Amino acid sequence: MICRILLLISLTSCVCGTFVVNVTQTSYQAEENDNITLEWMFTTKPDSSSTSLYIFCELLIDVKSLILYHLHEGVESPESQDRQFAGRVQCDKDALREGRIRLHVSRLRTNDSGLYLCEVKTDYGGSSGKCHINVTAAVDQPKTQKPTVRPQPESGGRISLYVGLTAAAVLAVCAGLYSAYRLCSKRHHRENVVVYENICPAE
Ligand SMILES: *[C@@H]1O[C@H](CO)[C@@H](O)[C@H](O)[C@H]1NC(C)=O
Ligand SMILES: *[C@@H]1O[C@H](CO)[C@@H](O)[C@H](O)[C@H]1NC(C)=O
Repeated sequence: MICRILLLISLTSCVCGTFVVNVTQTSYQAEENDNITLEWMFTTKPDSSSTSLYIFCELLIDVKSLILYHLHEGVESPESQDRQFAGRVQCDKDALREGRIRLHVSRLRTNDSGLYLCEVKTDYGGSSGKCHINVTAAVDQPKTQKPTVRPQPESGGRISLYVGLTAAAVLAVCAGLYSAYRLCSKRHHRENVVVYENICPAE
């Protein structure tokens, strides 16, 4: 019910065409340590004063929200920015005059991922727009993980090598024993023959 009311309100505001906030891109895909430029566009009015401009951009995660950028009466308010984004966000002032909120976010972190909402309020109207950022871990991270994976087939190879060596040693011992046995039995046989031969003449 609440959703329907909200939808109705947003629809009527769209129909009136008073004020809109659009996103240039609804979803951004980035890697850790990358720099990104987020962009929102809002309706401008030539005779409007910059001091009547309010911008509030935040990252929404689960139940909490982290402030990415805050412009109060046309003045940046970095003290209200969340520590996670400290020194990493820059707003393009020239673009702002043209109705474009261009936020350069540098050295992205994986926990920067999420839904970003920007609310714009002016003396001629207000609205909001949202986009999504997905920051994946840097590529060299799986590389460092690989050596921890590799030893398994290596140890497996080592085990089969040990098994092979053991088998070869057992075979060698067996072969030695067998030849020794044959040698012994031959000599024994010969001894028997000798004994037999010795016996035979006596017969
Ligand atoms: C990202 O931005 C920072 C500072 O804003 C800069 O020093 C760095 O060179 C940039 N990196 C890339 C890959 O553009
Ligand atoms: C983020 O990007 C990764 C890699 O492209 C993908 O597997 C994952 O599903 C994405 N997550 C979201 C929430 O879009």
